[in-house]
Amino acid sequence: MSDRKLLVAGNWKMHGSLTFVKEMMTSLATMLPSKMNYDVAVFPVYIHLHEVINTKPEQVLCGAQNLSEYDDGAVTGEVSGKMLADLGCNMVLVGHSERRVMNRESNEEVAKKFAQALKYGLTPVLCVGESLLERQSNQTFDVVWAQIQAVLDLVGIEQLGLGVLAYEPVWAIGTGETATAEQAQEVHQFIRSQLALNDDTISRRIRILYGGSCKGSNAYELFSMQDVDGGLIGGASLTAQDFMAICQEADKLSQGD
Ligand code: 13P
Repeated sequence: MSDRKLLVAGNWKMHGSLTFVKEMMTSLATMLPSKMNYDVAVFPVYIHLHEVINTKPEQVLCGAQNLSEYDDGAVTGEVSGKMLADLGCNMVLVGHSERRVMNRESNEEVAKKFAQALKYGLTPVLCVGESLLERQSNQTFDVVWAQIQAVLDLVGIEQLGLGVLAYEPVWAIGTGETATAEQAQEVHQFIRSQLALNDDTISRRIRILYGGSCKGSNAYELFSMQDVDGGLIGGASLTAQDFMAICQEADKLSQGD
């Protein structure tokens, strides 16, 4: 583990209800310590953002799962970074693999979304990761770097450094098959070394989260790797107990265990 502050982020995907949101916020308010040495963020669907922002404990950050590449206009069904910032969001996911696959988001489109987030003061969490086929054909580094390079080309290293990166191997998402801590570290280290070619300070400072079947039982091992700065959690962020179990592992590590 590095001296970067760990971030435990819950991506709720298309799950939940208003009742779920209220219960989660009450549970997190009770269970999370008021002073934490790590950050916690949740990412509900758009229509639940308002409820989260209005009821969340102060120390919890709130983000959206997507944003438009446009400022405003005739773009039915989309939500802009300006609107998210206006509502009180802190962060936003860009380029989640489910959107890259199901909504055919290209690296260039994701880069535009990253830029839009920064334009409105939101912290973008850029998700990258390879499919099983790509891993099996030794393309992991190429795929991951192309996803980051597109953002770098558009916004430059300084602006990239204002975001968070999340390495989420597609084959580990929702499958119960976690990358081993060594597999995660290998890719995180690769990303950091590539960034160092552009800016050493930023490469050391930027947070790189791991996502893909992360849970209480494997979080400690993953987060204790040198280049893993926390987790982007799907399934295990959907109950307060499971999510808190991961937060507790982050807490142990940030206390220097
Ligand atoms: P799971 O934790 O359910 O594998 O999901 C990971 C993810 O996609 C978070 O964005």
